[in-house]
Formats: sequence, structure tokens, C-alpha cells
Amino acid sequence: MLKVNDLNVYYGAIHAIKGVSFQVNEGEIVTLIGANGAGKSTTLNTVSGLLRSRSGSILFQDEDLSHLPAYKIVSKGLALVPEGRRVFLQMTVEENLEMGAFTQSGSLDPALEQVYAQFPRLKERRRQVAGTLSGGEQQMLAMGRALMSSPKLLMLDEPSMGLAPILVEQIFEIIQNLHRAGTTILLVEQNAQAALSVADRGYVLETGKVVSSGTGAELMASPEIKKAYLGG
Ligand SMILES: Nc1ncnc2c1ncn2[C@@H]1O[C@H](COP(=O)(O)OP(=O)(O)O)[C@@H](O)[C@H]1O
Ligand SMILES: [Mg+2]
Repeated sequence: MLKVNDLNVYYGAIHAIKGVSFQVNEGEIVTLIGANGAGKSTTLNTVSGLLRSRSGSILFQDEDLSHLPAYKIVSKGLALVPEGRRVFLQMTVEENLEMGAFTQSGSLDPALEQVYAQFPRLKERRRQVAGTLSGGEQQMLAMGRALMSSPKLLMLDEPSMGLAPILVEQIFEIIQNLHRAGTTILLVEQNAQAALSVADRGYVLETGKVVSSGTGAELMASPEIKKAYLGG
């Protein structure tokens, strides 16, 4: 479904992504794990069209996205839940969700109902401004907003960041529900344990390079990965 090949991304003189290649097959949950600064967000932001690569290709269903603007990439069926949620704090929950549907024409009601079915908490708070939501609720809102475009591939950038363990568990349950409902998922996490335990496959990023890849189970069993990412 998504095939990233030999991607190179720079911030000025800084070579942040150095020849990264990976793929996501339809129906999979694939995770990119790595320490802070490894290049996870840069990779997702480049696939989303928010950053430009210097070279390499990003094929989505055999179409090269690497020169398309971000809004066109959303309309092709990719949606990003950005790091740090980035919800619109002064807008209501429902207004935030409507922003996620900017590529859709016609009534937004069916999409809203689907999101509210997945996140009853958001429905209860539909008229509340997003700035008054808890961190976990804001994460749900950011996910709901991305789902408003009915993406084929949902990309999540550190959805568990800053959340209490019980909420991390809830967010991962929701990710698995979305996956069971047919959404393909590319998940970026510093919480390698949680990510590898739900992922079909994973890639390990270190300073802008893929240094290891395998099934979730293979990566979790690897002594180096245990030592570096799973707390021994
Ligand atoms: N806007 C930026 N300007 C310059 N360097 C950046 C910028 N954003 C990220 N970087 C650098 O790029 C590298 C990868 O960062 P990032 O993709 O945010 O990593 P991760 O998401 O894995 O923590 C890091 O060395 C980081 O310092
Ligand atoms: Mg990041």
C-alpha cells in the first residue's frame, strides 16, 4: 500500500533521514520505533507532504506522492495524527472534527456518527472547547479528526506520549479496533513495548537510518532491541 524507497530529508545542512526504506501492506499495523531524535516524525511528516524529501520515492497505491501538497495526500486516503495532538484549542470538539473533513463534500453527519460511535466520550463533549479536554481526550480528538477523512492509511505519531498507563492502554485498544475495522496503520512510538506488541511488523530507526526490521515478535525477542528499547 505504501512503499517508501531510499528517502533522504534535510533540515538545511542537517541530513535527518538517510536513505530510509520501508513498506506497509494493506491491512497491516506497522511500527517505526526509535529514540528521541531518530527521525520518526520527520519520516511521517514527509510522507504526509508537510516536509519535502531531497530524494527517494513515496509510493501510495503505486502513485508517487513525493511532489504532492499535503491536502492532496489527505484526499488520496492518508491521514496523520501529529505528534503532540495539535488540536484547535479554542474550537469545540465537533468543530475540530469538521476540520478533519476538509477534503469531503456533502454531509459530514455520517462521518461524525462513525467517529462518535468509536469515541463516545467525544460525543458527550461535542460542544465543549478542545482546550478543556484532558490529554487522553485530546488524543482521541486528534485521532477522530484524522478519521473524518475516512483514510485508508492512518499514521499516528506518538499517540501515547504523556499519557497515564491506563490511557495508553485505551489508546492502543482503539488502534487495534480501527485496525480490525479495516484501517491500515503506520504507528510511530517511543513506547516500543506497546507498539511492538500490537504491530505485525516493525522497523527500528537510529539517527535517520533503518537499522533493523522484522515482525513485532521477532523484534521483541531480539537481545539488542530488548537492551536498547525494552528496558533490558
Ligand atoms: N525543524 C527542524 N530543524 C532542524 N532540525 C530538526 C527539525 N526537526 C527535527 N530536526 C532534527 O532531525 C532529527 C530527527 O528529528 P525527529 O524526526 O523529530 O525525530 P523523532 O520524531 O524520532 O524524535 C533530529 O536530529 C532533530 O534534531
Ligand atoms: Mg517525533
